[in-house]
Amino acid sequence: MSTTHFGFKSVDEAEKASHVKGVFDSVAPKYDLMNDLMSMGLHRLWKAYTVTVANLKEGDQVLDIAGGTGDLALAFAKKVGKSGRVVHTDINEAMLRTGRDRLLDEGVVLPTVVCDAEKLPFPDHHFDLVSVAFGLRNMTHKDVALAEMNRVLKPGGKLLVLEFSKVAKPLEKAYDWYSFKVLPKLGELVAGDSASYQYLAESIRMHPGQEELKALMKANGFGHVDYHNLTGGLVALHVGIKC
Ligand SMILES: C[S@@+](CC[C@H](N)C(=O)[O-])C[C@H]1O[C@@H](n2cnc3c(N)ncnc32)[C@H](O)[C@@H]1O
Repeated sequence: MSTTHFGFKSVDEAEKASHVKGVFDSVAPKYDLMNDLMSMGLHRLWKAYTVTVANLKEGDQVLDIAGGTGDLALAFAKKVGKSGRVVHTDINEAMLRTGRDRLLDEGVVLPTVVCDAEKLPFPDHHFDLVSVAFGLRNMTHKDVALAEMNRVLKPGGKLLVLEFSKVAKPLEKAYDWYSFKVLPKLGELVAGDSASYQYLAESIRMHPGQEELKALMKANGFGHVDYHNLTGGLVALHVGIKC
């Protein structure tokens, strides 16, 4: 039996996905509100920056993995126009349904697929851009997921990984206090769920840092990888090119 981490806990590898499912089933209804509150709106800037770096054009084929409530999928859809396509995907039905309803309210209908990033139901060399925002951290086999993302990209295609990362040293103390003292209380108050926000703080600490993730992307098929630190490294945007 192999084990892996679920936050700071060690769990059977085969069980991690169901623990993660429990977290996102629970947070889905209040996900967008909590995102705004927890990040004080900063997640909007990080995503806007990601859309700029994506540099999409009309007609592009895009896959948004772990797309949740659809922030990136919606922004990308506006860039690729009617001749392009954005496929909005997530392993969690509750998150995807919340996102699909929200996009429908905005008059946007996208192909929506429930799927696991580790087994993508798409052909080889198909997409111009693949994105995964705040999703990779939750996956059991990040190497397998990255190899799948590489497989479905066209040669020359781009992977964007937006994820929490290792914050700059001077910010560490304040960030730890905020993550472990404030976040779970905010989760309890707003969403009636402190455990999921404790998991959020722990999973961020267990996720590979900037250089480690860059190496992992290179090891899984990306010929060129670079990253941009955002907000003092609180978040990093990794850009991988399939060469
Ligand atoms: C923090 S949310 C991010 C949602 C959205 N991308 C955003 O930035 O607001 C993480 C998402 O990752 C999804 N996820 C976790 N493991 C996954 C997997 N193996 N394959 C696909 N999605 C996964 C969860 O269901 C959840 O919706």
